[in-house]
Parts: sequence; C-alpha cells; structure tokens
Amino acid sequence: MDLLRKKSVEQLASESTPLKRTMKTFDLTMLGIGAIIGTGIFVLTGKGALTAGPALSVSFLLAAICCGFAGLCYAEFASMAPVSGSAYSYSYLAFGELIAFVIGWDLILEYALQAATVSAGWSGYFNKMLAEFGLHLPVELTAAYGTTPGVTTYFNLPGFVIVLLVTWVLSVGINQTKRVNDVMVLIKLAIIVLFIACTIWYVNPANWKPFSPYGIYTFQPGSTQPMGIVPAASIVFFSFIGFDAVSSSAEETVNPNKTLPRGILYSLAVSTVLYIVMTLIMTGIVKYDQFAQFVEAPVAGVILATGMNWLAFVVNLGALVGMTTVMLVQLYGQSRICYAMSRDGLFPKFFGEVHPKYHTPFKGTWFFGILTALAGGLININTLFELVNIGTLSAFIIVSAGILWMRKTQPDAHRGFRAPGVPSTPICSIIFCLILIAGLNWETWLRFAVWFAIGLAVYFLYSMKRSKLNPNNASESGTQQVES
Ligand code: ALA
Repeated sequence: MDLLRKKSVEQLASESTPLKRTMKTFDLTMLGIGAIIGTGIFVLTGKGALTAGPALSVSFLLAAICCGFAGLCYAEFASMAPVSGSAYSYSYLAFGELIAFVIGWDLILEYALQAATVSAGWSGYFNKMLAEFGLHLPVELTAAYGTTPGVTTYFNLPGFVIVLLVTWVLSVGINQTKRVNDVMVLIKLAIIVLFIACTIWYVNPANWKPFSPYGIYTFQPGSTQPMGIVPAASIVFFSFIGFDAVSSSAEETVNPNKTLPRGILYSLAVSTVLYIVMTLIMTGIVKYDQFAQFVEAPVAGVILATGMNWLAFVVNLGALVGMTTVMLVQLYGQSRICYAMSRDGLFPKFFGEVHPKYHTPFKGTWFFGILTALAGGLININTLFELVNIGTLSAFIIVSAGILWMRKTQPDAHRGFRAPGVPSTPICSIIFCLILIAGLNWETWLRFAVWFAIGLAVYFLYSMKRSKLNPNNASESGTQQVES
C-alpha cells in the first residue's frame, strides 16, 4: 500500500485531453473576476463591518495579501503542470496520492458548497427584484427551511432554478460558457464602477472614527464570536475565493504557462482594488454599527441611505449577475476537479466521460449541478460559508507547502512562471492562511474535521484500490508511478 505514489511533471503534462483549448489571458481574467466578485462583497460586507468597523478595508487587504501569496504559488504550479484539477493535481505531483485525494475532496466542499451558498444569496436579491415589480412568489418557496426566523419557508425555488440554468450553460460547452461569462463580468464591473462613481460624494470621514473599534482580535463580554480585523478578514476571505478556479481551466487554455499566472494575478488585483474602495465608501456613508439594519443586503442599504433609489435597483441587478458568474465558475471548477479525479481512477469513470458533441464532462457537470441545486434549495446554508473558507485555506496551505517541496526536490523541472521570493512567499502564504483559520470559530473547525474523516473513509474503501497508479491497475492505465 503506497499512499505517497506520485505522478511526474512529464506524466501530468502528457495526459492528453479531449477538452478544447480556447481560453486566453482576457478570458481567464474574466473567469477569475467572475468567480471572485459576488456574495462576499454584496452580502458579507455587512457582517464584516459589524465585526471590524471601518477597518474592514484593512481586513480585505489582509485577506488579499493572503490570497496574493497563495496566488503566486498556484500560478507556479499551474505553469509547471497545466492540467485540469488545480490544487488536486498539484498535490499529486508534490505529495502523492493520499494528500491529493484529500485536497480533491476538500475542493468539492469549496466549490459545490460555495455555489449552493451563493444560490441562497442570489435568491434573496431575486425576490427583492420581483417585489420591485409587485410580484411575489409564495413565501414558502422563497428560501430553505429555517432560513428566516418567524417565517415559514421550505424551498429556495429561485436558487434551485438558477443553479440548473447555470449547469445547462456549462454542460453545453466551454465556448458558450466563456461568452456568457465575459458579458456578465463586464456588466458586473460596470455596475460596481457606477456604484463607486455615484456614492463617493456622500462619504463623511467622521464615520471612519473610530477606525478600528475592536482592534485586531478580541472577544466581547458574553460572546463566543471573535471581533476585530482578523476575524473580519476570516469572513471576507470568502470574497476572494475563486481565483484558484482559473487554474482548473489549464487544459482549455491557449499557452497555459503564461496565461494562467497572468489570469490569476490580474483577477486578484482588480478585485482587491474594487473591494477596498467599496468598503471605504460604504463605511464612510453609513456608520459601521448601523449595518445591522441591512446586514443581508449591505450595498443596497448604503445606497438607500444616500437616497438614490434608482441606483439601488441597478446595483441589485449587478448583484444578481455577479452571483450568477460566481456559480458558473465554481460549478465549472467542480466538474473539472471531478474530471481529473475520475481520470486518475479515484472517482467513478462516469465523472470523466466527455460528451462527443459538446466536449464537456457532461454527466459529471449535471450530477453535481443537480446536487448543488438541491443543497441550495433545501439546506439553510447561510452560516456554512465559513466551512468553505476553512476548506479553501487548507488547500492554499497544501499548495504553498507543495511549492517549497518541489523547489527542493525538483529544482530543475520546467517552470513557465517562477513565484518570486521563494521560500518567503510560500511561507508567508502558510502563515497568513493559519492566521485566517484562527479567526474562524471552533464549530467550523469541527465540521471540517468531520468532512475530512468522511473523505479518508472514501479513499481507503474505494479510491485506493481503483487508482490508476495502483500497480494492480497498471495495464489499464499505462501510467507509471514515480519513485518517491
Ligand atoms: N468569491 C465569491 C463570492 O464572493 C465566492 O461570492
């Protein structure tokens, strides 16, 4: 039993793909921004402002720095092994099968749960838009059971339908996906710039005082919820998740060694600037402790405080578009991770079958699309975004450690992009990720441990035997294991 069996860089690179190479730097940057800007800025900034005060902008910066360090490590790996599967494939290269499986399992949590979480936020904004036109769905069908205290809801119908629509777009092909995504991302960016241009004049610097009412990390008497800049960064970290999904498109990218790192870093840079400007404006217009009134839709709340109701309508539309692109990219990343795991024998073949006409992993896309739609429809997942954060932070840690390891063990392997400042960059990435994990509460750590344990059981009961690197399956795979 060899839990550390690995693939080589050459082996990963030579795994031929029936997926089509059509994506360029612009598309990848759009894909990244599509995945990044969504629920985090439109919904979680309310909770963030209450947790850190105006220093929320510093929390965003902290989360961005963490992602920047990790992004450089992702970019180096992506340029070494431009294949589907992102952190999963990189771990296979650096640490071997067991860790790779665990990371793949972890990414399922990240992508699918995230898309389900976003579908809940989408539904809230959609119901608000309908109400603007005097239309109302039966209240029972507006949210999952138990979402709103005092209101009887059973099923999040709008969230369910939008996830199925997104799944359909994904399943019929990357060209269609790319076009739909590019258009929606441009709309989203235009609406955010409009928000900034119209509201910046209403900022009252007096609202920025005190700038950091809770300091870096503190507990209020009688509360178990940590407050301050670090806990807020742990919350708004969610806003940056997604840039890593860019690297899961490696097999559909033209000249991936150059375009992947660029796509990752450009999308991260654009989002960081927009987030910091937006949060400074928001906390400059409304005093941080007033965000409790509109914690579900803080951007709209801030606009209403300026009296520009027309703008609230436009921005709500932007929020809907923004969250749709997030779901699109997350479900895309999800299907590509499962595709890679299936190709390696760790998941059933079903997930790796490519549709002869659409050139997409059609069945796998629909399998997870339906599961995510049901999860978003039935489960109150508003509190579960922290689980997504811890799953992603863990993947970042493994990828960063992988860069340290690969530089030591395979210094001469071809790297289209070399992360600057190694070993400091991956070490800083790991330290920042640990700081952000520390800012989450202990229930999240516990839930994550349970998910992790289920993953280990699946590996030992199913995947280990069926792995293509298992010597018993060698004739079937034609692949060889690398000596570790
Ligand atoms: N970063 C994505 C969002 O904020 C997940 O919705």
